[in-house]
Amino acid sequence: MSRVLGLVAASCGGVETRFRTELAAPAAARGWRLAITLTPVTARWLAATGELDRLRELTDLEVRSAPRLPGEPRPHPDPGVFLFAPATANSVAKLALGLADNQALTVLGDALGEDGVTVVVGYQVRDSRFRHPAWQGHLAALADAGVRTHRLPAEGPWTGVLDLLP
Ligand SMILES: Cc1cc2nc3c(=O)[nH]c(=O)nc-3n(C[C@H](O)[C@H](O)[C@H](O)COP(=O)(O)O)c2cc1C
Repeated sequence: MSRVLGLVAASCGGVETRFRTELAAPAAARGWRLAITLTPVTARWLAATGELDRLRELTDLEVRSAPRLPGEPRPHPDPGVFLFAPATANSVAKLALGLADNQALTVLGDALGEDGVTVVVGYQVRDSRFRHPAWQGHLAALADAGVRTHRLPAEGPWTGVLDLLP
């Protein structure tokens, strides 16, 4: 039985191809069952290129970006491991502050409060965001919650962040 990976993506440059080829497909190849959640911007970008359909071929679970209706069943099981990659400066800041104004941040925020759940965040931010006065505080807040954070390489594949998963 495959272990479920909660795989969450935000709207970083390159996500429209590299999320599938450098994260989702390699994770599936390593045996993870993918529970994919996208931020609304990411879902729009991936829908525009037909990439959502290609992602759906990697998992038996719904690729989601919207909350369910009250009374609808939850489409994903509860993963014990989450990878949030690529993560934008925007979504990292919101996650650190506890904001949950979309489905991606809702699942991640819920996971942060659960005992025994591993969360890894791979972010891609420009240097000016890295120097933003609040940024190091956001990373520290996530580290205090046990989150492993990793800056995705500007050059080269994102796949290395999968090695941080248990
Ligand atoms: C083409 C393009 C590439 C972007 N790349 C990044 C990026 O690599 N990292 C980042 O933090 N924001 C990036 N942004 C900005 C985010 O998409 C923007 O802040 C968005 O509101 C984030 O929404 P989300 O975090 O809900 O996905 C990019 C925007 C565009 C239009």
